[in-house]
Amino acid sequence: MKTLLVTGCAGFIGSNFVHTLLAGGRDVKVVNLDKLTYAGNLANLASLQDDPRHVFVQGDIGDRALVERLLQEHSPDAVVNFAAESHVDRSIHGPGDFIQTNVVGTFNLLEAVRAYWGALPDMASDVRPSRASFRFLHVSTDEVYGTLSPADPPFAETHPYEPNSPYSASKAASDHLVRAWHHTYGMPVLTTNCSNNYGPYHFPEKLIPLVIHNALAGKPLPIYGDGQQVRDWLYVEDHCRAILRVLEAGQLGETYNIGGWNEKANLDVVRTLCAILDELKPRADGKPYASQITYVKDRPGHDRRYAIDARKIERELGWKPQETFETGIRKTVQWYLDHADWVEGVTSGNYRHWLVKQYGA
Ligand code: NAD
Ligand code: TYD
Repeated sequence: MKTLLVTGCAGFIGSNFVHTLLAGGRDVKVVNLDKLTYAGNLANLASLQDDPRHVFVQGDIGDRALVERLLQEHSPDAVVNFAAESHVDRSIHGPGDFIQTNVVGTFNLLEAVRAYWGALPDMASDVRPSRASFRFLHVSTDEVYGTLSPADPPFAETHPYEPNSPYSASKAASDHLVRAWHHTYGMPVLTTNCSNNYGPYHFPEKLIPLVIHNALAGKPLPIYGDGQQVRDWLYVEDHCRAILRVLEAGQLGETYNIGGWNEKANLDVVRTLCAILDELKPRADGKPYASQITYVKDRPGHDRRYAIDARKIERELGWKPQETFETGIRKTVQWYLDHADWVEGVTSGNYRHWLVKQYGA
């Protein structure tokens, strides 16, 4: 049985990753280290409550003593780092937590893992990996590359880092630390830079789940600026399958861009969501959900366009997304309609206070 120490698995992508990993009865143990910030929610993992393959530990990636203890106790074959502060708007209003977790936290995690990895044996055994077989995979974003003009080619792995928001700057810093720990100490690292994800368990502060949630609640659907900003959308399970593929076959020290060639303007995404909701759950008054669209002040420093060139992972590792935007977005809307209790659970508490401050919602 393989063991993975995975951080941030009570969040959106991390929880989907655990579900993808453990699906089909795979013989893997996941030790899930998560601080349970506002974005971490054990309800995302409720179906694994009695599964001995999932061990949950509440804690901070920056707590070196705790991480060292977990590494000793579980002897993981790999560490996958999802844990992060992840919302651009929050990073604008309060960048401190982003520096603390994404930069300082990643540094502490790297140092704990370096000590563990350095003490691994030359030969793997049933209970411990070898120094050569161990992997550290860092999950990052395309936002580290900055913004594109309409005529620019999509971001390739060779694109310079030009982060524009406190969030993307903190992720860029963490990517650089991971890179340096490979080049300086020889740590066996892999980095993935993915485009915008969507799907189940997505916290409703991000565009897609926020719009579904607000539409159903009869609230405004806030469009920042002119709504012509472009994002490159990928269904979350496709991202999770790509990470597993990189873990399995990625070249050490390399970075892999992950994306589904699915560029969409925000306004088009919101109109698509409204049209699917009109069909699946029409408003009681018969009006279209699009009538709730409301233009609001633009985000400061708003990146105009992200787009991923995914040819490297397609060519070298044979990964391809399984969902199109059309199939993935329909599944997603249906998931939110079927999981009103989950949405209610995560939209109570701190989040609601923050939302009220932001939008007066
Ligand atoms: P999320 O905000 O939904 O989840 C983050 C999780 O990390 C939460 O469970 C939270 O409790 C946990 N966490 C936060 N600080 C922690 C700390 N100090 N120690 C331990 N746990 C901590 O984020 P997400 O959207 O699932 O993103 C996961 C990762 O993927 C992030 O690194 C993000 O930068 C990256 N990423 C996200 C997207 C996207 O579209 N959401 C795209 C590309 C890359
Ligand atoms: P978001 O989901 O926050 O992801 P990111 O900023 O990491 O790309 O936002 C996606 C796009 O949608 C981004 O261009 C900002 C825009 N947006 C809105 O227009 N209205 C909203 O209420 C939100 C949350 C985002």
